Order: sequence, then structure tokens, then C-alpha cells
Amino acid sequence: MECADPVFAHDFRRPRASNPAPDWAKAGGSRRKESALFTLARETPADWWEVEALYDLCFAPGREALSSYRLRDDVSPVDGLSLTARDPEGILGGAIRFWPVHVGRHDALLLGPVAVHPTRQGEGLGGLLIQHSLELARDQGWSRVMLVGDAPYYSRFGFEKLDGVEMPPPTNPERVLGYDLVPNAWEGISGKVTRWSKG
Ligand SMILES: CC(C)(COP(=O)(O)OP(=O)(O)OC[C@H]1O[C@@H](n2cnc3c(N)ncnc32)[C@H](O)[C@@H]1OP(=O)(O)O)[C@@H](O)C(=O)NCCC(=O)NCCS
Repeated sequence: MECADPVFAHDFRRPRASNPAPDWAKAGGSRRKESALFTLARETPADWWEVEALYDLCFAPGREALSSYRLRDDVSPVDGLSLTARDPEGILGGAIRFWPVHVGRHDALLLGPVAVHPTRQGEGLGGLLIQHSLELARDQGWSRVMLVGDAPYYSRFGFEKLDGVEMPPPTNPERVLGYDLVPNAWEGISGKVTRWSKG
């Protein structure tokens, strides 16, 4: 499968110390080793249902009942920020999407969902998708990003708990995290997170 508009390719064939290659992979010629080169590309409409299937696989059933999905209803993801990661055979290894939201009277990006196929987790692909899309978001002129997620994971990218930013209930406030794309972007920003209304 050809990846439209590739953003860049990343070679995972040099595993991290925390995730050493198993012996069978080190022997060479294994499928895992050969497919460790991932290409990140902007998501296209043709990717939509495959990404949905990946999210269904990676998240608990009923994910669309989460309050964050009410902020996505009838709103398109942000153009050019949602990414897919495919191996050389075109198999989808991970994906990330972003939606625009309002926080009080201010604009922000809502990161997520982000997911990596269970067979590819722990190889750095999630981190790569997050870090690269944050750079793209900065290039697009966005100032701030928020998400609802696990602080122990997202803190490594610089996300911190947001005080006074209210997601639609029920959301655990401890999981509402923010990231500055420009210095002090979240300073003084508070209020309810609402669905994008700028068309
Ligand atoms: C969360 C997810 C996207 C991370 O992708 P990944 O490619 O496995 O992540 P990376 O390889 O970049 O990072 C792996 C590291 O993150 C840690 N990690 C992964 N999920 C974590 C979590 N929920 N909380 C804390 N740490 C977490 C791993 O333990 C590992 O730690 P290490 O670097 O110390 O070994 C992936 O595990 C996934 O798809 N999970 C299911 C869906 C989900 O929960 N999505 C996020 C919510 S929107």
C-alpha cells in the first residue's frame, strides 16, 4: 500500500535498551526486523476506517461513549495533523488524531485518540507519533494542546495537569493535561472545554 504524502520514515531496527530485540529478531531475516521501518504520513480519508479499527482494537469497548468524543461529534479532525504509521508492507502500526476545541474563549488542540497496535507497542512508535505531530501543530500556528490521559505516560513529552480546565463530565480532572507549543500558552487559560464552533 502506498502512503500518501509521507511525513518521514523512522527506522526502529536499532531497538532501545528498554526493549531489546528478541533473539529470533537478532538472527536477521525475521518479519519483525524487516518491518521495523515505519513511514509516518498524514491521514487521508481512505485511512479512516482502518484507523477506527485500530482504535477499536486498542481501546476498551464503548470508547465513543467517553466525554471527549462529545467534543468531536460533527467536527472534523484538524487537517494535516492526524498521522498514520505504516510498515513497509503498508500495515498500520499506529495512528494519532487531533480535534480543535475551545477552552473558555481560547482555541486549543485536543490530542487523541493515539494508539499503537498491541504487537508494536513499546518500540517508541507512540512517542514518535506524539512528538512529530506536536511539531506539525506548532508549525501550523497552534499555541496549546490538551488531552485526557495518563500523566505517567504523557509527562515524558512535557504534558502537565491543567488546573481550571473543565472537560465535559464525567472526566477525572487529574487526567486533564496540557502542553505549551509556545511559551506559557496555558498561563491564565481556564474554563469549560467546548466543541469547536468556528466552522
Ligand atoms: C499509549 C500508547 C499509544 C503508547 O504507545 P507505544 O508505542 O507503546 O509507546 P512508546 O513505545 O512510545 O513508549 C513506551 C513507554 O511508555 C510506557 N507507557 C505506555 N502506556 C503507558 C501508560 N498508560 N501509562 C504509563 N506509561 C505508559 C511504557 O511502559 C513504556 O515505558 P518505558 O519507555 O519506560 O519502557 C500505546 O500503548 C497504546 O496504544 N495503548 C492503548 C491505547 C491508549 O491507551 N492510548 C492512549 C490514550 S489516548
